[in-house]
Amino acid sequence: MTTLFKNIKELVQVRKQHINFLSAAAMKELPTLKNAYLLVKDGIIADFGLMKNCPTEKIDTFIDASDRIVMPTWVDSHTHIVYAGNREGEFVDRINGLTYAEIANKGGGILNSAKKLQETTEDDLYHQSKVRLEEVIALGTGAVEIKSGYGLTVAAELKMLRVIKRLKENYNIPIKATFLGAHAVPDTFKNNKKGYLDLLINEILPIIAKENLADYIDIFCETGYFTVADTEYILKAGQQYGLTPKIHVNQFTTIGGVQAGVKYNALSVDHLEIMTDDDIEVLKNTQTMPVALPSCSYFLSIPYTPARKILDAGLPLALATDYNPGSTPSGNMNFVVATACIKMKMTPEEAINAATINGAYAMGVSNEVGSITVGKKANVILTKKINSYASIPYNFGSNPIDQVYIMGEKIN
Ligand code: NIG
Ligand code: FE
Repeated sequence: MTTLFKNIKELVQVRKQHINFLSAAAMKELPTLKNAYLLVKDGIIADFGLMKNCPTEKIDTFIDASDRIVMPTWVDSHTHIVYAGNREGEFVDRINGLTYAEIANKGGGILNSAKKLQETTEDDLYHQSKVRLEEVIALGTGAVEIKSGYGLTVAAELKMLRVIKRLKENYNIPIKATFLGAHAVPDTFKNNKKGYLDLLINEILPIIAKENLADYIDIFCETGYFTVADTEYILKAGQQYGLTPKIHVNQFTTIGGVQAGVKYNALSVDHLEIMTDDDIEVLKNTQTMPVALPSCSYFLSIPYTPARKILDAGLPLALATDYNPGSTPSGNMNFVVATACIKMKMTPEEAINAATINGAYAMGVSNEVGSITVGKKANVILTKKINSYASIPYNFGSNPIDQVYIMGEKIN
């Protein structure tokens, strides 16, 4: 089965060689080909180049991309799309003056979502979550990481992870599962946080390993949630089961979570709204990807991750949505890219690199997606008739996408 996209106005993010990730000045470069073709064979990118060299072999399907851009789908390396119900009530409470912390302290927040999820059947949870997955694919996301962490009991955490496994089986985009049992301390362990961590380690991790339910391990390392010592405790346990860390750090305060992530070779450290010079320094010359989540800053009115400071220090940066019911009820990567440009002063080139190649690294799928490279999955966006790729952030809030192709097949 062959598909040929032809007359592409601009084919974006073309990379002849495999790239692990891009840092600093290299992120300013976004290679493209104007008036190009893209050849897909059995769902995989087989060839690309200028129209003057367009293949003449027998093709099954032709797609005319005149006036339109073709680019790799977004890679969303940080989401919580498996959740039950919503937190619209808390949203209104915040408008009326309560803070995120005040809501959490009166039993709202993560514990509110956990209560709802515990009362939801696995089947219902799957159906609520698949609606969100299909929504984000239609918005151009072609690979996604999904966390547990709204269960907070053995049964409910496993329920979440089994739902993620079912999504992996039923959708042909790369999906990675992250165990975030240490998202909040449930009421039943209110005065016994150590007991809760031991439950995660002794009861849940062995089942996760046996049933292959997670690829990564996460913890909410934050004042009022889990300390650096808790973080090291859980990451060490995860390590024993071969789970690489991808952790929540520095969302509201800086307490040493970045350092703990680096110490345990985290694949990524995510949020980073509050960053000291030391936090930036420790990330230098490591394999740990900093990940910014600008929609979360937007929704909670908290500081944006200091992207300029991070990039100017020579580091890489990835962008993701954080799609979840509490801090970011949106999974729109187009909005993430726009917000990164508008609020974090990233250039369109930097933001697109951060949301494709670097996102792919941050969720361990660099070999499969993130660029137009021969051998990668043909997960691509065909835009509407837009002026240039800069239109994506410039026309923020508009949907730039005409069609999404997953493994070369058009998504309806
Ligand atoms: O990444 N920060 C921790 N966890 C989520 C939000 C949790 C919630 O409010 O439900 C986040 O922002
Ligand atoms: Fe998150």
